[in-house]
Amino acid sequence: MSRLTVFPGHPLRGEVNLPGDKSISHRAALLAAMAEGESRIEHFLDSGVTRALLNALQQVGVAWHLDGETLTVQGQPWRNPSAALNCGNSATTLRLLAGALAARNTAAVLDGSAGLRRRPMGRILQPLRAMGAAIDSADGEHAPLTLSQRPAGKPLRATTHRLAVASAQVKSCLLLAGLAAEGAVTVIEPHRSRDHSERLLGALGVEIESRPLEDGWGVTIHPHPAALPPFHLTIPGDTSAAAFWLVAASITPGSRITLPGVGLNPGRIGLLEALREMGGRIEVIPRGEQGGEPVGDVVAAHADLRGIEIHGERVTAMIDEFPVFAVAAAFATGITRVREADELRHKESDRIRALCSLLSALGAKVEEQPDGFTVYGQGGLRGGASVQAEGDHRIAMAAAVAGLAADQPVTVQGAEIMAESYPNFAETLQGLGGKIRMEAENGG
Ligand code: S3P
Repeated sequence: MSRLTVFPGHPLRGEVNLPGDKSISHRAALLAAMAEGESRIEHFLDSGVTRALLNALQQVGVAWHLDGETLTVQGQPWRNPSAALNCGNSATTLRLLAGALAARNTAAVLDGSAGLRRRPMGRILQPLRAMGAAIDSADGEHAPLTLSQRPAGKPLRATTHRLAVASAQVKSCLLLAGLAAEGAVTVIEPHRSRDHSERLLGALGVEIESRPLEDGWGVTIHPHPAALPPFHLTIPGDTSAAAFWLVAASITPGSRITLPGVGLNPGRIGLLEALREMGGRIEVIPRGEQGGEPVGDVVAAHADLRGIEIHGERVTAMIDEFPVFAVAAAFATGITRVREADELRHKESDRIRALCSLLSALGAKVEEQPDGFTVYGQGGLRGGASVQAEGDHRIAMAAAVAGLAADQPVTVQGAEIMAESYPNFAETLQGLGGKIRMEAENGG
């Protein structure tokens, strides 16, 4: 266990070399494993959650090699793994793999950490079963999930699934299963979620359409019995990693941070738009496309922020950014209200509860609601506290960002969890001029 202390009073200046996008890294590795032949993926995110996926791919017989940020994958037919696939803390790994295993008709047990075992899986179990996949869970809702083989030659059924909550993980699971269905599979979401899977599948020659509907957003995938072709891809900088620096620059006086090559997928840029609406000084220089995704350079500087309201589809476009957004709200003046965001209770932690307890420990006035929270922004935070990461990488990094501009230092216990998505976070903070101390906890 490690403890990170961030000391206030040091402006952040310079350029950040962002890690590769987490969501796209997952999809690229998985589709490369489903292709026939060698794929090369540059700027791959090497972190706890992507290692969980790579290890699982190895267990189904896919060979890969990671050299720095370059991942080479030898796609080939999958075999039934002899042991359970340990998805660690990664719900993306578990949910996307479930769809891919169903498409491949591979028998496997999908399991993970205690935290992952608490996350809702009924949302993939029910629709996968409706497609005819033999997938079970002891309690009908949680991992471990057991996938059994269907009789050879029996395809999955063509179906339409209506999701209660917009979720790119659930959508992607069903689209991957749809590759091996006997007809079109449609997924309807109340709002459009990130479309990385659709972009990548489309680029690999899969017939896939996406369209607005009266009551949401629909994506239809047509069966693709042929093997996927191998590919070369360079992954954009992670939009959600960039979010920490956008808020860090906005709240820390004297700061100016440049982020080259940030992924600007419309389903991901909710925080950037929210900060601008709060009065943030955020400049975006579009740089075209990279790997089929819009990218740009983003420059963020210190600004006086004011409170705003977030609900509806804006929640989906910044679903991973609420911990650090809540920190920005505490440094703003005025009230920030977040509603229709109950999905945050089902992330790596119950993020509504975790971010409210983080902010109150640091001296903010915050109220928790069943579907969101209200921050009474006072233009700053007291800090001077030691807080728990709660086994949630984004809570840990949000707490560290708060320490940059609080009145007193902030200590994060269990800070090693940051490596699940951003192994170089603390070093990057230091490289920008931040003052930190990293210590082993319990002398260990
Ligand atoms: C992800 C989708 C989001 C997000 C997660 C990654 C993905 O989850 O929270 O970190 O890669 O598809 P949901 O789609 O379940 O909201």
